[in-house]
Amino acid sequence: MEYTLAFDVYGTLIDTSGILKSLTRLTGETAKDFMDTWRNKQLEYAFRRGLMNSYVDFSECTSHALNYSCLVYNIPLKPTEKESLLQEYSTLPAFEDVTIGLEKLKAAGHHLFAFSNGSKKTVSQLLQNSKILNYFKDVVSVADVETFKPNPAVYTYFNTHTNSTKTNSWLISSNPFDVIGAISYGMRSAWVKRSENSVFDPWGIDPTLVISSIAELDNQL
Ligand code: 2OP
Repeated sequence: MEYTLAFDVYGTLIDTSGILKSLTRLTGETAKDFMDTWRNKQLEYAFRRGLMNSYVDFSECTSHALNYSCLVYNIPLKPTEKESLLQEYSTLPAFEDVTIGLEKLKAAGHHLFAFSNGSKKTVSQLLQNSKILNYFKDVVSVADVETFKPNPAVYTYFNTHTNSTKTNSWLISSNPFDVIGAISYGMRSAWVKRSENSVFDPWGIDPTLVISSIAELDNQL
């Protein structure tokens, strides 16, 4: 069966830890904690804005979360340093398994879409930089419905925009909040467990599939 596949971007296709080298240069030994705080707060801001009906471009959540992290770790980065970190966010690398995985899925006849909190412009530039934009039929952004994952409205929009249904589409994500959101909406979802110590939220809602790389997906659909 040919499926419509929605690929989450940050943390699933794109390795956000790619920014660690620059962060280490700027923040020293707190870089890993700083990066985790930055990512978690970026997502928290998206969740809060979704609930508040106070949508802004996801890049603003990223920028506000960076400012928050500077305050938490008492590291007053210069505006130029922050700007270069935010710029780097739009040029992060793809994980090594992604190209071969997308190639196999496309060859099998599935319809591939990038599906992200990020704006279409930002995500398209990111995927172009990491040389994987050509695998996707389109980039679908939650910006079109002015809310954020895991609001069911975004998964509804994905199905509508891609002319797919709950039963012939999958959400592929390394982010448990996204997997649980998609399954609760009614889609199937594969959790990309990118590290051994990643923990899936114990909500009693399990992924349809658990894979450790995108390359494993085509023979499990
Ligand atoms: C996304 O790309 C934030 O990873 C999430 O939508």
